[in-house]
Amino acid sequence: MTAATLKTERHLVIVLGATGDLMKRKLLPVLYNLTEGGASFHLLAMARSKELNDDSYRAQAVEAMVQFGKLDAGKAAQWAKTSLSYGALGAGTAADFRALRTRIEQIEREKNLPGNRIFYLSLPPETFPKTISGLGEAGLHRSATGWSRLVIEKPFGTDLSTAQSLNDLVHRHFDEAQVYRIDHYLGKETVQNLVAFRFGNAIFESLWNRDRIESVEVTVAESLGVEKRAGYYDQAGALRDMMQNHLTQLITIAALEVPARFDARAIRHEKEKVLRSIVPYSPGDVVFGQYTAGESEGKKVPGYLEEDGVRKDSRTETFVAMNLRINNWRWQGVPFLVRTGKRMPRRESKIVVNFRRAPVAMFDFNDESVMSNRLSIRLQPEEGFALDFGAKVPGDGFVLKQQRFQFNYKDAYGELPDSYQTLLYDVMQGDQTLFVHADEVESSWRLYAPLLEEPPELQPYAAGTWGPQAAQDMFAKSSAR
Ligand code: BG6
Repeated sequence: MTAATLKTERHLVIVLGATGDLMKRKLLPVLYNLTEGGASFHLLAMARSKELNDDSYRAQAVEAMVQFGKLDAGKAAQWAKTSLSYGALGAGTAADFRALRTRIEQIEREKNLPGNRIFYLSLPPETFPKTISGLGEAGLHRSATGWSRLVIEKPFGTDLSTAQSLNDLVHRHFDEAQVYRIDHYLGKETVQNLVAFRFGNAIFESLWNRDRIESVEVTVAESLGVEKRAGYYDQAGALRDMMQNHLTQLITIAALEVPARFDARAIRHEKEKVLRSIVPYSPGDVVFGQYTAGESEGKKVPGYLEEDGVRKDSRTETFVAMNLRINNWRWQGVPFLVRTGKRMPRRESKIVVNFRRAPVAMFDFNDESVMSNRLSIRLQPEEGFALDFGAKVPGDGFVLKQQRFQFNYKDAYGELPDSYQTLLYDVMQGDQTLFVHADEVESSWRLYAPLLEEPPELQPYAAGTWGPQAAQDMFAKSSAR
């Protein structure tokens, strides 16, 4: 983002859950940056506490912006003074939401805002239903003079039926066109660039099918353990926390058909078609793991069961690997080998497309594994692309060695914007392309329902390794086919 290039209609952003971690770490720095970039809004930070007021909340906010956003304290304080107000929601009764409405109208009068509103639910998921009803019943789902948008953080439901009920409740008050379900992976530049790469470069799209591709690997590995989130994570596990949302989004974007246009309706329609084409998997196609004590980045680390706040007999998976198949003309027979886990050797998210080998092996390769071309799309860190190809080693004979074409984002553009910045700006613009549609979220839960009902046996893996051996065997077997 360059200075003051953003354009938005004037509006009010109301964050519910403004004393939470997400607000401090992400939303405040990102909202500051958006103002700097030219977006035009006032922020109303709402939380339960009646102890806080404008001044004390602003002081907290500035501290967070300095700590997490590395912003200048003076500038942050100036921004907070002019662009930020605090409001107490109390217990969230009907009267509290009516009071919120009065407060919103009062700020809009004072700041001369036209009635455009974004409600951002940065709340624990169990409070989503009550909050959505509260907003709706206080009449805040509509604005008499402008637009009203609702942003919902993940997790959206904990299974198919809870997601359906939540969708029903949302739709009782809001139209789908007002709803922005966040999956922060969709805001990552590298994920968006996958669409640009595929549909902006005809040479790749013409190879993007079962005739040319042997397998697709999707990996989201984290070196961190469960950290301070055991209360949530031990209930959720890797399937709900990562697979149902982030990895599923990556699969759909890697696999979707060419959309008619680059807009929300066309892209979401194509993603939904991919989800519906994924065939039921068998038990041999799934591995669940849980980390035991080991080493991470040179330090000894405890096993999952020894982590603070984890039940001592917990059966929660911290690793999932799946071999998924998409039964359509483009992908029939191509394994999508997908894995995610905590306490892996390093933080690394990538999509690797393994192309088929040349039909006839004419040359010697110095290494069997380089006999096929491989495209790596590195989502983080070291964001970029790499295409491996064989090149002749100079000298006698005809031996090929793997070499690489590379593109690195940082070399070309410097630091990439935070995904929340991209997504929030899209909400301000009313662009739903990078948000998850109601049907999509349900299809994705439907896909994993058999595993939620009957999870496979949990396999241990030592912290600092690439997951249970069974997963590595499953991948090796599928790639060799
Ligand atoms: C969150 C998960 O949605 O994504 C976390 O709840 C996970 O468990 C995080 O660590 C990973 O996000 P990123 O952007 O760091 O890859």
